[in-house]
Amino acid sequence: MFRAIRKAVFPVAGLGTRFLPATKANPKEMLPVVDKPLVQYAAEEAVRAGIEVLVFVTGRNKRSIPDHFDKAYELESELKAKGKHVQLSAVRDFIPSHVTPIYIRQTEALGLGHAVLCAEPVIGDEPFAVILADDLIDDAEGNGCLSQMVEQYEASGASILGVQRVPKEHTDRYGIVNAAALSSRVSRVQGLIEKPRPQQAPSNLGVVGRYVLNPGIFRKLRQTATGAGGEIQLTDAIAALMQEETVLAYEFRGTRYDCGDKLGYLQAQVEFGLKHPELGADFREYLLGRAL
Ligand code: G1P
Repeated sequence: MFRAIRKAVFPVAGLGTRFLPATKANPKEMLPVVDKPLVQYAAEEAVRAGIEVLVFVTGRNKRSIPDHFDKAYELESELKAKGKHVQLSAVRDFIPSHVTPIYIRQTEALGLGHAVLCAEPVIGDEPFAVILADDLIDDAEGNGCLSQMVEQYEASGASILGVQRVPKEHTDRYGIVNAAALSSRVSRVQGLIEKPRPQQAPSNLGVVGRYVLNPGIFRKLRQTATGAGGEIQLTDAIAALMQEETVLAYEFRGTRYDCGDKLGYLQAQVEFGLKHPELGADFREYLLGRAL
């Protein structure tokens, strides 16, 4: 039996420069898709995968994230007094009481790898998940992308990266893996490179923001020098880990929206809008009636 994945790290300290001015005073992870912020979708996915400790690595201008996961006394009592039970449940019940959020401040923006290393004192010596909230993954048929990956981890005990095929001309937006297939969705990672140009990319299998990692990654992160973009890259530490232990890539079921990108974000709004239980039908009618 391998150890259970109980903790997930949410690196949410990024500046969100691609969404300025919307992200001037608000974190990009608080941008809503229809009526829920991205970070809430990410937290709900983690909870569905059995995660009990949500570790947010935050930075400046991110106060609204802890506020969002906190109890809102005044709002709750006002909603209660007005008999607005649906809204009350929407602000109160999205994180079950057995789940604990923890906040760590990343004081310098040194990159994704550094953000994950900041979580080490809370993670300790156990396997854990990493979720990048701006990769919104809709797994309508199942229980979420992370849940699928935790299931894979339980079978092998190996660190595992969520991957999908990306257009060849977009390889410079992703960590790209060189992998040998083991089964239809699982492959063994043999090489990993951060944001290669299409000519240098070993494949078009891109890492999206879901990882299950063994704690050995922390030792590798401490030894990782500055990489692509002048940042300490998680990708480089995983490539080093791969020299010592098996790292798998998993092609998840579901649709991923790159909400760190304006087009991907708009696509998510449309798809989630169409599926929304209250708005879906009217929104569909609006779109159909609107000549493009
Ligand atoms: C990060 C990772 C990259 C990964 C991507 C997925 O990059 O460094 O390896 O493919 O997330 O969204 P970022 O998008 O933060 O630049």
